[in-house]
Amino acid sequence: MCELNMRPRRLRRTDLIREMVAETNIKLNGLIQPYFVCDGDGIRTEIESMPGIYRESTDKFLESIASDIKLGINKIMIFGIPDHKDATASKAVGADSLVPKAIKQLKDKYGDDLFVSADICLCAYTDSGHCGLIKNGQIDNDATLPVLAEMALDHAEAGCDCVGPSDMMDGRVERIRETLEENNHPNTIIMAYSAKYASAYYGPFRDACDSSPGKGDRKGYQMDFRNRREASSELMLDCEEGADIVMVKPALAYLDIIADFRRNTELPVAAYNVSGEYSLVKVMAEKKLVDEKMMVLENLTSISRAGADIILTYHLRDILKGGWLG
Ligand code: PBG
Ligand code: ZN
Repeated sequence: MCELNMRPRRLRRTDLIREMVAETNIKLNGLIQPYFVCDGDGIRTEIESMPGIYRESTDKFLESIASDIKLGINKIMIFGIPDHKDATASKAVGADSLVPKAIKQLKDKYGDDLFVSADICLCAYTDSGHCGLIKNGQIDNDATLPVLAEMALDHAEAGCDCVGPSDMMDGRVERIRETLEENNHPNTIIMAYSAKYASAYYGPFRDACDSSPGKGDRKGYQMDFRNRREASSELMLDCEEGADIVMVKPALAYLDIIADFRRNTELPVAAYNVSGEYSLVKVMAEKKLVDEKMMVLENLTSISRAGADIILTYHLRDILKGGWLG
């Protein structure tokens, strides 16, 4: 009989042993649930491409939050879906704009018991569907910055804990930080979408927000998925510009980038488990091709193992409902 010194399988024999030696756990406290808030009243429509996720008018959104808080959700990310879109993204700014108004109501009700973050970008507000303003047929980086900064400030004034610029314009973190400091909001967290790739995985989200660019694509501002070193230089810039949390997006096809971020900064690293990643799991589970719980836990554990401290995920409500994290 052959004698082996090393038998890695010893540590895989029972549940208790496996738990004892497990290197990674999904940190429930690091999970953030995204929401889509639209204009109107009494609206709650399931997003066809994202089963279990809804676009809701503010009244219905407040009801959802009330029931989700009972489930244990206490960190959220809000996306606005305005009725009106135009060339200047006029509905993206102003104290009475859609998302700041909803945030004000949430904060009046829940205060610090609910961590509220919101996406800062123009694509849901421009008639072009692009993330920046168009001047002379080009996405004009510098003309977009003041609008983003004003949008972020309106959110901060409404009580938003954290703004998440997802537009990928150059210099936006610095401009937002300056504007927040100058206007007496030194404590607003900036969670920068630092390495945001031009990705096919955003398909269901754009369906949810009707934010597909009418013409062209986002490759002039979102990153090329062939590039890895470039993510490190984006990371460096956002750290210098004043980001508090840095994000990689999408998550599952970009685990190497998450691991690079983990090595290259001491800041908290977030990863966005995006709509297409969610829908893949949902579609396969509906067809009974996979065990949904096992696949969700495997995906989120892998994102954590790569180095993410925070994960934005549409699966959070199902995780809590199902008691999947024990
Ligand atoms: C807006 C934005 C997008 C997502 C988050 N913020 C879409 C895009 O850039 O086209 C994607 C989120 C998801 O797919 O879940 N800039
Ligand atoms: Zn955008």
